[in-house]
Amino acid sequence: MEGFGIHIAGLRKRYGEGEAVVNALKDVTMTVAPGEVVGLIGPSGSGKSTLLKCLGAVIEPTAGRMTLGDEVIFDDGWKIPDLRALRRDRIGFIFQAPYLIPFLDVTDNVALLPMLAGQPNDVARRRARALLDALDVGHRAKAQPSQLSGGEQQRVAIARALANQPPVILADEPTAPLDSERALGVVRILNEMAGQFRTAIIVVTHDEKIIPTFKRIYQIRDGKTFEEKGQGAG
Ligand SMILES: Nc1ncnc2c1ncn2[C@@H]1O[C@H](COP(=O)(O)OP(=O)(O)O)[C@@H](O)[C@H]1O
Ligand SMILES: [Mg+2]
Repeated sequence: MEGFGIHIAGLRKRYGEGEAVVNALKDVTMTVAPGEVVGLIGPSGSGKSTLLKCLGAVIEPTAGRMTLGDEVIFDDGWKIPDLRALRRDRIGFIFQAPYLIPFLDVTDNVALLPMLAGQPNDVARRRARALLDALDVGHRAKAQPSQLSGGEQQRVAIARALANQPPVILADEPTAPLDSERALGVVRILNEMAGQFRTAIIVVTHDEKIIPTFKRIYQIRDGKTFEEKGQGAG
């Protein structure tokens, strides 16, 4: 599969108007190569979630440019007509809270998007099981979300984000509810995904356990990004 890669240049996002205006992103520049996992670190309110939402086409930036692969998706305005298709086919989201569908079992929570995208049910479910196994939660494949612990639910949510093999994964504090061993397990899976499928992955985190695993880190402070070399191997 051809990797996409992410390029962001001069991105700005302003919320509100007049007295209530918040310049959440002032100048964000960032590159993530296909197959790369980068960390995005910054204090609360520095614009991390805003950046992921802009890139995931959940909110509209105020100005700047965003490119996925060789396609410009935003250049002082959206450049592609179907943002729903962009979100569905090209972006995998992992949030701090799992947001599982309560009336579907664990396997179908993971298999749902691929099935909706036209994959045969048995293929989608088989792949879902493999992902659940890889995330160490395969033994819960037939459970309902309400029967799982918080950490198990989060691992199911991660499997769901990986299920469509999106070229871009955006993870907002994905390991916050996990213990040390499982947090590192999640990072290992994300790195494997990145390598195997040429996925470009951005991980927003405060998690001291996983920060040393990134080869490259972007700091964000007051809406501006600064690139740093990380401690990760390679
Ligand atoms: N919908 C919104 N309306 C107005 N201001 C917002 C909105 N969302 C976030 N902000 C503000 O934008 C800034 C960045 O927020 P956010 O991206 O959530 O930061 P982080 O994820 O780094 O904690 C903060 O000052 C926050 O209060
Ligand atoms: Mg946030």
